[in-house]
Amino acid sequence: MIIDVVTLFPSMFSGVVGESILKRAQEGGQVKINLVNLRDFSQDKHRKVDAPPYGGGPGMVIMAEPVFDAVEDLRKNGREESFLVLLTPGGVRFDQTLAQELSKQKGLILLCGHYEGFDERVSQGLSPLEVSIGDYVLTGGEIPAMVLLDSVTRLLPGVLGSKDSRLQESFTSGTLEYPQYTRPQEVRGLKVPEVLVSGDHGKVAEWREEKSKERTEERRPDLAAAKKKSKKQFRQL
Ligand code: ADE
Repeated sequence: MIIDVVTLFPSMFSGVVGESILKRAQEGGQVKINLVNLRDFSQDKHRKVDAPPYGGGPGMVIMAEPVFDAVEDLRKNGREESFLVLLTPGGVRFDQTLAQELSKQKGLILLCGHYEGFDERVSQGLSPLEVSIGDYVLTGGEIPAMVLLDSVTRLLPGVLGSKDSRLQESFTSGTLEYPQYTRPQEVRGLKVPEVLVSGDHGKVAEWREEKSKERTEERRPDLAAAKKKSKKQFRQL
């Protein structure tokens, strides 16, 4: 999959795309991450891409024309079918289901806003899916784009080994992960639960399922309720 990121701050991405699983996925050819500097599409000799809002008010708004040009340039270069996403706190909430949907696309173009966001005509003219990573306001769409990049890339075929794939089950199954322990068996008086060193695989699985349920009910009652509801619906079929 090719993921294009249109941003005013391409260098913000270097740490995230140059390490760990995202680095491995690029080296393995499962994903190509292409950073596009929006300023390269400025029509201004000072490379400006923003202007004050019509009607007044604080901040600056990103002009529509450079964004249209950047997306047209990508479309002309093999990205005809890439799915367009605009990161904004006013978008639909990002979750694991949306990550899975996006991972099935041919390609993605991520538009990162900054300042007071984009001129509304970007949305009118390009009809991107507007996505928010949560109910809080960040300084721009770059960190949300990194969140999206990371969660989509790890779902691409061949990126995670079977070792890691358990992690994929977590939100997909609608429950939180059970607690994990590693060596040594005792740390500062804190012991690993007996069952995990018992060697009884059946009991271990039972314990994990129970802990997972307990955690979900305690920390995310909304997820636990949604799961109960879908189970009930399933039984009615
Ligand atoms: N830009 C600023 N805040 C954001 C958020 N929560 N999600 C997506 N884009 C944003």
